[in-house]
This record gives sequence, structure tokens and C-alpha cells, in this order.
Amino acid sequence: MRVVLGVAGGIAAYKAASLLRLFTEAGHDVTVVPTAAALNFVGAATWAALSGKPVHTDVWSDITEVPHVRLGQSADLVMVAPATADLIARAATGQADDLLTNVLLTARCPVVMAPAMHTEMWEHPATQANIATLSERGVHIVPPASGRLTGKDSGPGRLPEPDDLYAVAARLLAAPVTPFPPEPPNVHFAPQQFGGEPPLSHRKPDATPLPVPDAPSPSRLADRHVVVSAGGTREPLDPVRFLGNRSSGKQGYALAEAAVARGARVTLVTTVERPVPPGVRTISVETALEMRAAMHEAADDADVLVMAAAVADFRPAEFAAHKIKKTAGTDDAPEIALVRNPDILAELVERRGPGRSPVIVGFAAETGDDTASVLDHGRAKLARKGCDLLVVNEVGVDKTFGRDDNLVHILRADSDAVTDVGPAPKSEIADAVMAQVESLL
Ligand code: CTP
Repeated sequence: MRVVLGVAGGIAAYKAASLLRLFTEAGHDVTVVPTAAALNFVGAATWAALSGKPVHTDVWSDITEVPHVRLGQSADLVMVAPATADLIARAATGQADDLLTNVLLTARCPVVMAPAMHTEMWEHPATQANIATLSERGVHIVPPASGRLTGKDSGPGRLPEPDDLYAVAARLLAAPVTPFPPEPPNVHFAPQQFGGEPPLSHRKPDATPLPVPDAPSPSRLADRHVVVSAGGTREPLDPVRFLGNRSSGKQGYALAEAAVARGARVTLVTTVERPVPPGVRTISVETALEMRAAMHEAADDADVLVMAAAVADFRPAEFAAHKIKKTAGTDDAPEIALVRNPDILAELVERRGPGRSPVIVGFAAETGDDTASVLDHGRAKLARKGCDLLVVNEVGVDKTFGRDDNLVHILRADSDAVTDVGPAPKSEIADAVMAQVESLL
């Protein structure tokens, strides 16, 4: 596959050299396009030696090949790592003052940006607005990691490790995604499919027709509305206390990202604040009742509902308007009465009635015991809940909560087939779940 690796001028540019290696070792044809500032950190000779291709920052070199148009048009993926605040601002405003910004304007493939900068710059409303703009246009943003920055300071702003960036790229290169931007005014391969000429704006400089790409079979999730719940609910006791659980929300966010990668429109109903996968509409909730309301509303036009959230089964019967105090001079402890929360998943199944639209996916944390195996418990729960897929998480001490790896069995209501996934990163689990969902659409 043809990959353009954009490198902007930040200290993390050195990490892009390892990323480049991962691409080339996997057999991809990589052209590195640094900005002029990036060459202050890693020189052109390094990029040229590692990629085996000439390296330019401006649009005036090799002019006969019209690189400012050709590179973007012919790429299967453009990844910018690191993307600095300046590059992000230029991309968001559609500037074309160097080769990399020209590539970004001409690319019709998935575009990924991995921002890296100081925390203050990342959190600045200008940068966040630019990120939101790019994200709305379909650019995949890999959120910066938290940790040590250039100096002694630390915070969000670090470029994620090359392996993690490569994993995002590999997923996009493998996924049958819709071209970026999602609906270009002239879809550049459509006219040829119908025997016509490509529009002028998409012709190669020598006016030979663009090659017809192997038409990717579009994902069945393309343009479908996928609603995912994530995180653990918090059930307030008084203004400062709540009943909660250890769910990190990572699996729900990974599911949202996997659905976006397959071209879906995604709504994420979440109790946790994590960097939002690009292109996702987020609804923040706290309690089971708030999550229930948000899920029902989003379910109105949903094609897929995924209950990945850890919903508290009980909530305090009363909410104390003032902080519950100790009674001075006694050992008394208050008794907290609990009431049942609604089972949101079961309600969503009930409201759709007969048929399988929307497709509904539940999650279950299970352990085996003396009476039955994990799978037996999972089968029973699938039948009880009435959903189409049940993703059974094997839990135990030190398993699942907050971890990046997970071991699951995916059960289907329409067959006895069991798909085992893992131990694997939550992103891989999410992808396997979305593949099963696709088969049900
Ligand atoms: N769930 C829900 N509403 C609840 C509780 C759970 O929608 N009040 C959903 C979860 O999001 C998950 C699935 O139901 O998709 C399974 O949750 P789990 O707590 O494992 O199952 P329970 O039905 O509560 O069974 P158990 O008695 O084993 O806890």
C-alpha cells in the first residue's frame, strides 16, 4: 500500500523514524513528507535513507511529477506523526503553503493525525477547535498520550509510541473504509466505473485516467448509526459520594472507534471522559437512569445498539441533599437502602419488538464456578437478555477492569457458534465484535 508519512516540526519527530521502519518492514511503499521545521529535528538524509525515496518539503522540487497533487491522490493512507499545533492549524484552515499541506488537501484516502505538543498548546481552545474541525471532516485523530514532555514538565501531549501508531494505521489499511472525505463532490473512481472520464480535477497530470482502484467492498456498517454505551454508572448517595464500579470505559471507546473505522455514524453514551474517537458524537451521562434516557433517545434511529457500559444494578433509594454526617460521639453508621435500576439492555430488546433491527449487543462479565462454565453462564444470560450477540468477558482477579488486554467469547443468538478472541488489545476485541455485527446487518 502507498503511505505518506507526514512529519511536522516537533521533538517527537525522532519517533517517526521508528514508525517509518514499521511501515517499510511490513512492505508498504512510504513517502516521507516532512515540514521544513521538522528537518531541524531529523534531517532529510535520514528520511531518504530509511524510505529509499527522495524527500522534499516544498512543492517546487521534481516539478514535472506534480508531487503536490500526485502524492495525496495516489496514497492509500496519510499519517501525520507528530502533528504540531501549527500543522493542525494550517490543515484545519485548508492552507497549502508546503508539500505536506498540499498532500492533505488532495488526499482522498483515510488521513490520520497524531498530535504532539506541550500540554498548554494541546489544551488551548484554538488547537481544540482545529482538532474538532479536522475530526468532523473525517480525519482520524490519535489522541496524545500523557507523560514526560520535552522538559521537566509532564501532561497530555506526548506522541504515542510508534507501535501504537502503526496499529492504528494497519487497522485503517486493512479496513474496507469509505474514501476520505466521506462524500467528495466528485467520487474519483465512480465515473470510470460507469464508463465515463474522470473529472478534470482528479486526472493525473498527463491526463491518463486514474487507475480504477480495487473497489473495496464497502462495510455494511458504512453510514449506519451505531450507538455504544461506555463506562460505569455512578449512583449518587449525597453531593460528594456515589456507588460506582471499576469500569474504565476503554472497551466502549474501542468499539466506537472500530465502528467509525468501518464508516459508521457513532453516538457514544459515556460516563467517563477519555479522548473521543474522531467523528463520534458524545453524550455524557452519570447515572443508570441518565444512561437509560440517552440510550432510548439514541435508539430511535439506531441500526446497532451496543451496551458495553457497566450499569449499576442498584442505586441508593434516597439522595441526601446534604452530605451525610457522622453523629458525634457515637459509632453509628447509616444504613443505605438500595433500589433496583432498570435493565437498559433488556428494555432496548423489548422496545424493538420482533425482528433484528436494530442489532443489539450485550456484554457480560462472567466467571466459571462449580455449577457451570463461563460459556454456560454466558448462554443462559444471552437467552435471558434476548440480545443478538453477547460478548462474554472472562473476569477474575487482575483481569479486565482498566487493562488494555481482554479475553472474550462472542456468543450469537442465531447459532451455537462461539468466537474466542484474546487475550488481545481491546481494539482487536472491538474489531471482532464489529465484524460479527456486520454479519447480522
Ligand atoms: N445492563 C443493563 N442494565 C443494567 C445492568 C446491565 O443494560 N441495569 C447490561 C450491561 O451493559 C451488559 C449486560 O446488561 O451489556 C450484562 O450485564 P451484567 O451485569 O453482566 O448482567 P446482569 O443481567 O446484571 O446479570 P448478573 O446477575 O450476572 O449480574
